[in-house]
Amino acid sequence: MQSALDPAGEEASQVATLFWVMTIGGAVIWAGVIALSLYASRWKSRPISTEAAGKLILWAGVAFPVTVLTALLAYALWLMPSLRPFANEAQACLWVEIVGNQFWWHVVYHRPDGRQVASANEVRLPVGERVEFSLTSADMIHSFWIPVLGGKMDLIPGRTNRLSLLPTKTGTYRGQCAEFCGRAHALMAFPVVVMQPGEFEAWLDARAGASAGVAADPDGAALFQRHGCGDCHRVAGTQAEGSKGPDLSHVGSRLTIGAALMANDAETLERFIAHSASLKPGSMMPPYLHIPDEELSAISAWLEGLK
Ligand code: CUA
Repeated sequence: MQSALDPAGEEASQVATLFWVMTIGGAVIWAGVIALSLYASRWKSRPISTEAAGKLILWAGVAFPVTVLTALLAYALWLMPSLRPFANEAQACLWVEIVGNQFWWHVVYHRPDGRQVASANEVRLPVGERVEFSLTSADMIHSFWIPVLGGKMDLIPGRTNRLSLLPTKTGTYRGQCAEFCGRAHALMAFPVVVMQPGEFEAWLDARAGASAGVAADPDGAALFQRHGCGDCHRVAGTQAEGSKGPDLSHVGSRLTIGAALMANDAETLERFIAHSASLKPGSMMPPYLHIPDEELSAISAWLEGLK
């Protein structure tokens, strides 16, 4: 679900309210102007006096627009402080670091006690708690936007932008890169899961260490290393420490693969490994067509087991 007009967060609610106030206000004024021009052109056959014309211009042409536009500006400015980064610093509890890459998202959860959990291409948040995001980019300008929660905010190389969001409704939503960043820009998305705080803490605790699945299938793990996957990807608890591609620790528990490109199961994962460049044009990951099918299946099955 990805509609800024169906908000699930405080910032998006304010944006939606402003949108409706402006739309309805604009529609009422438009209807008034059309009615007035119809009246003048169809039913009012004789010209009005100079004095009446002067009053009409003063009230309808100057006083009315000045009053309405001033009120709208004041309302929009009143809404702004909470949209600004770190407006509510005192309430911050969780800090999420996001790094944009062509075409995926590096995500690190920084807990208030200093512990960190690295992940990719999915953002999970506790409901009713303000979250601060720090946003930067490893290559070019991307933009972080979760329409139902608020935003958007650019990710710029060499600079860290900040964004503060407060989710108010649990659910699974969609975020999207909102700045053209190359051929797969439209395919640079991510699921956003807003959970109950207790559920979120348990989820994060489970992802703080290595998945039990790393030891479940030694063949899959060995093939993953042998084909060089670990040079670009990290899997906690193994020798795979790469950082050029998404962190794959616990990848089996993610909702999607390829940054919200496809639903996550062993079959789509196999397809993605073999054909990443054609499924995601411009992707830095080369196609791995040379890996025999049974080895591809073993790697995918191992990755799917990393819950
Ligand atoms: Cu990243 Cu558009």
